[in-house]
Amino acid sequence: MFFTKKVKINVKNKNIIIEAKSGTNLYDILIENNIHIESLCKGNGQCGKCKVKIISADGKEINKPTKKDRLVLAKINLENGYRLACQYTVKSDIIVDTEEWIVEEDPNIVKVTVKKVNNNLNNERYDSSKNNQEKNNKTTIETADELTVLKDGLILIQYPKGIKYFVYSASIGNVSFDGYVKTDEPLIDIIDNNLISDFIYNYVDIPDIDRILIILDKNTYNGTHLLNLISYYTFNIGEMFCEIIQPLENPSNLLTFFRLLNLQNESLLIPLDNLKTIYYKKDNQLFVLDTKYISTSIDTEFLFSTGLNPIIDISEDFKELTIKDNYFEPDSLSPKVIFKTLANLKNYGIIDDNFQFKDRNDLLDKIPIEILVKISKRDNEPLFHIYRKKEIALYISKTQIEIIKELGYFINALLKYCEKFVGKISNIIIYSFQDIEEAGTAFINLGFFPKKFSKKVSFFSGDPALLSIKFFGYKSVSTYINNQFKEVNTIELYKNDNFNSILKK
Ligand code: FES
Repeated sequence: MFFTKKVKINVKNKNIIIEAKSGTNLYDILIENNIHIESLCKGNGQCGKCKVKIISADGKEINKPTKKDRLVLAKINLENGYRLACQYTVKSDIIVDTEEWIVEEDPNIVKVTVKKVNNNLNNERYDSSKNNQEKNNKTTIETADELTVLKDGLILIQYPKGIKYFVYSASIGNVSFDGYVKTDEPLIDIIDNNLISDFIYNYVDIPDIDRILIILDKNTYNGTHLLNLISYYTFNIGEMFCEIIQPLENPSNLLTFFRLLNLQNESLLIPLDNLKTIYYKKDNQLFVLDTKYISTSIDTEFLFSTGLNPIIDISEDFKELTIKDNYFEPDSLSPKVIFKTLANLKNYGIIDDNFQFKDRNDLLDKIPIEILVKISKRDNEPLFHIYRKKEIALYISKTQIEIIKELGYFINALLKYCEKFVGKISNIIIYSFQDIEEAGTAFINLGFFPKKFSKKVSFFSGDPALLSIKFFGYKSVSTYINNQFKEVNTIELYKNDNFNSILKK
């Protein structure tokens, strides 16, 4: 015959002693005995509301914190005997306090005081009618007070077919490990269904997370606008501080936002995918160079979207053609290859400084015999047929060449204006979603930058979201931004006479 051991639960603040079977859940015992206990997640270990203080009543140690305890409660609370009642299995006699919420302050814990926009997540989906963008030409951002705080954190990033995560360790000041969870469930649903703790528990499996940074691919929650690029929203899960970064209008906003985090003094940031806004940083001032009506003729989207073959590479002397994926039959060039090819053509003297193709008859003795340069038409678009080898034909369209030419004029004018009227340029950062890193030398060879800048230019492509680990050195995303960009000045270049006269020259 088996006897189930009985345990005593002394509910200190109610002056009640309850007897229960060993192995019973504390939350259930309290509910069954009509002792009020807060809960938003119905005992799922996510809301932190059922936090109670537990002391041993028989000299045995109280239970060690579970993973969910560690996810939701702060270390200081765990060390002081706080546990989630819903995660506590009673195995020995205990004294429980269901109302002692106030613990001794730990001087090392910095209270997060970031303004909350709203409390109810479900009611705050993004409302475009409320999208009041900054109209002022000069914005002074409130100075942040306490800046730094070291806490362990987690970055969750929405990807098309899953969620990428990075674990930030405060002790090493960097990412300690990362992973990818393949799932059809969007992060937005995980947040709305209150399942973040479950997600971490099931997939990431880390204790003691104090902060979560969530990067979404679209604007969903109605948050504060930062730098006119992102909408920023915060909430808490138990004692975990959660921040959401979402693009204000389109995904390229995110790309620019993360690139700005790394912008050094006297740097010019040129987003190749969206030339409507260029950024320049000087000390703690950010200059937003608004070029919207000027740059619309430079349709980089067209330039980038027409390249069907990011898999092709052509050698400097045009002799070698590498097709990295034979599955595709190439008949046009990716932007990277267009830049490089034009630079090579210019180098050979096949095109002049205005990107005009020279007469083929003048060139026959200068270029390798395999290269043909002629004009043909496809869908009424003039095409420069520049290469033929092994039955493979490659083309650059006249429109693409025009766009590249305009891009060159525009960048040149920007640099001149900036140096004359805004500030010295020590670095130029050009970036894109597209793979343009190898196009860097081509840009210089095409004369996009005066020679004196050639060593100051860097090219980046891909996803810079990991730069967001910088935020963990500060108590919040908004604190970091306010500290880095104390003043934001907008210069409307499209109606600026100085810029326009430089551009016309
Ligand atoms: S009831 Fe929500 S964490 Fe216990």
